Amino acid sequence: MTLKAAIIGCGRMAGTIDDEITYDHADFILPYGHAPGYAATEGVELVAASDIDADRLNSWCDRFNVEERFTDHGQLLEQVKPDVVSVTTPAHARANPLVDAVESGVRGIYTEKALCTSQLDLDRIVSAVRAREIPIVYGAMRRYWTGFETARAFLDAGHLGAPQAALIGAAGGSAFHTHSHIIDAAFYLLGDPEPLAVQATLTGRGEDELGIVHSENDGVAVDTDPAIVCAHVELDNNLRLTCTDLPSLDIEIVCENGVLRGYGDSSRYAVMRRNARYDWEPLPFPDWQARSGTVAIMEDLLRAIHDGTSTRSGLDVIRRGMEILFAMVASHVQGGRRIELPMTERGVSVHSH
Ligand SMILES: NC(=O)c1ccc[n+]([C@@H]2O[C@H](COP(=O)([O-])OP(=O)(O)OC[C@H]3O[C@@H](n4cnc5c(N)ncnc54)[C@H](O)[C@@H]3O)[C@@H](O)[C@H]2O)c1
Repeated sequence: MTLKAAIIGCGRMAGTIDDEITYDHADFILPYGHAPGYAATEGVELVAASDIDADRLNSWCDRFNVEERFTDHGQLLEQVKPDVVSVTTPAHARANPLVDAVESGVRGIYTEKALCTSQLDLDRIVSAVRAREIPIVYGAMRRYWTGFETARAFLDAGHLGAPQAALIGAAGGSAFHTHSHIIDAAFYLLGDPEPLAVQATLTGRGEDELGIVHSENDGVAVDTDPAIVCAHVELDNNLRLTCTDLPSLDIEIVCENGVLRGYGDSSRYAVMRRNARYDWEPLPFPDWQARSGTVAIMEDLLRAIHDGTSTRSGLDVIRRGMEILFAMVASHVQGGRRIELPMTERGVSVHSH
C-alpha cells in the first residue's frame, strides 16, 4: 500500500535546495530535499503541502506537482489525513505543526533540524511522540550517508581499538543550524552514548556579540543561534566530545590505538594507526558507494512504520543532540559552568531562524 505524505513548510529543504547542490562531493547525493526524496522513494507519494505564505505555497507546489495546498497545516491534517508528514518549517516554527501532526494520528514524522529553539518545545515534542509511539527521523542526516556508515563499520571492526573521543568543528557555522549535523554524526560514530555533562563558551556570529536575554519566567535565551568557541561534552562509557576549531564539519575520532579523520563533511577520510608510541602507520580507508541520504532516511522511516522496527535516527538520538545544544547555552550564560544532564530547569531558548 502506498502511504500518503505531506510537507509542512515549502522552502529550500522541502525541495528547492537540490538546485544549490551543484558541487562535486563524495556524499552530497541528490535527491536532497524532501519532495524530490519522496518522488525517489518507493511506497510513498507526496500528495499535499502547507505553507503560511500562499504565493510560496503555490509556486512550490506547481514545481513539485502537489495538488492539495493549504495555508493552514491543521486543515491539511484534517482533510488529507496523511500517513507521513515532513516538517520543514524554520526551527522556531517547528513544535506546533509537528505536535499537531503527531496528535492527528500520522504514522511517521520526518522533521528537519535543529528540532526546535526552546527546551519547552523539545519537551512538548518528545512527550507527544512518546505518547503515540510513532517513528520519527531527523534532518541531521550524516548517519545515513555512506561515508559515515563506512567510517562506523571501520571503527566497529576494531582496527584502531575502542573509540575514546570525538573532535568536531564547523568553523563559521552556528550551534543549532550547523553543529546539529556534526554532533549527530559524532554520536553515531561513538555508538550513540548518553551525554552526562556539558561545558561551553559561545559567541555571536561574525562581528556581533552574543546577547543574553533573561525573561520574566526565569527563562534565559541567547539572541541568535550562536557560534561555538569551544565545548566539552562528557558522555557515558568514559567517552568525550569536544567542539573545537576544525573546519567544514570535519570530525576526528580518537581511538585507543589510532585516529580516524573525516575531512570536508565526509569528502575524504584518513586513518593513522599507532603501533607503538612513536610508530604510526597509515591504514587504507575503504571505498564507499554513495547514495541519497534523504532516500535512505525515508526508507528507514517506511520500514519502521511497516515492521514496527526502530529507526537509526529516532527520538532518543534527536533528544540527546538537542539537550547538548541547550546545555551549551546554559553553560555559556553561567560563565562556562559544568551543566549536568538532563537539566531539571527547562527555561533555555535561542532566538533563531
Ligand atoms: N538537513 C539539511 O541539510 C538542511 C538544509 C537546509 C535547511 N535545513 C533546515 O530546514 C528547515 C527549513 O529551512 P529552509 O532553508 O528550507 O527555510 P525556508 O525559509 O526556505 O523554508 C521554510 C518555509 O516554511 C514556511 N513556514 C514558516 N512557518 C510555517 C508554518 N507555521 N506553517 C507552514 N509553513 C511555515 C515559510 O513560509 C517557508 O516557506 C530549517 O530548520 C533548516 O535548518 C536543513
